[in-house]
Amino acid sequence: MTAVDPQSPLAIYREEARRYDRRAAWPTLVGRLRKEAVARLELAAGDTVIDVGCGTGASFAALQERIGPRGRLIGVDASPEMLARADARVLTAGWQNVQLVRSAIEDAEFEIQADAALFVLTHDILRSRQAVANVMAALVPAGAVAMTGAKTGPRRYSITNLIVRRAVKRYVTTLEGLEQPWSVVSEHIPDLRVRSAAFGGAYLAWGPLPN
Ligand SMILES: C[S@@+](CC[C@H](N)C(=O)[O-])C[C@H]1O[C@@H](n2cnc3c(N)ncnc32)[C@H](O)[C@@H]1O
Repeated sequence: MTAVDPQSPLAIYREEARRYDRRAAWPTLVGRLRKEAVARLELAAGDTVIDVGCGTGASFAALQERIGPRGRLIGVDASPEMLARADARVLTAGWQNVQLVRSAIEDAEFEIQADAALFVLTHDILRSRQAVANVMAALVPAGAVAMTGAKTGPRRYSITNLIVRRAVKRYVTTLEGLEQPWSVVSEHIPDLRVRSAAFGGAYLAWGPLPN
């Protein structure tokens, strides 16, 4: 059997999947930012959207509300444990338009060009140039991107920064780039807009790819 690097996302979410929805996905702030990120995608009925690092599918209901049954939702995640929960969520809701793909985002093969991509609580993925480039290449020209998650602020927010680092440590393999988690995406989206939330401890970023 291949040994799993304990620092890899696979190892983290093998453990975390059981308690993820209870612990990480639903607190009020995250729920609010998730909804806003989905709204920023400005999806229309029938659109195709990629939920990047979809985990247990915590964003699926909000995405479905926008794309409707004619739309297509592609959830990609490397963790079989998280995807098993996403799959159960899809079955329970009876959604027929969801494709779950088990893959590292870096290697994911997207069969069609999507209208939009959502990144919620996906710091590791956002810090991977290869992963970000792969997702951007899977979008149509002017495709919409939105992301939200934790961030640290300037030095004067030292208490917030401490709390943020402690909170995210268990879910990520790197704290690199935590001051500007969107920076790699902004290389693809010059007009990326960023809003800070929660006393600098969280962010929302969104914008369209160039035409
Ligand atoms: C904190 S969870 C967020 C899940 C979901 N987006 C949400 O809003 O609850 C991060 C997810 O990213 C996945 N992940 C991390 N790095 C990945 C990579 N390189 N490729 C695919 N999935 C990855 C993990 O397996 C995990 O399910």
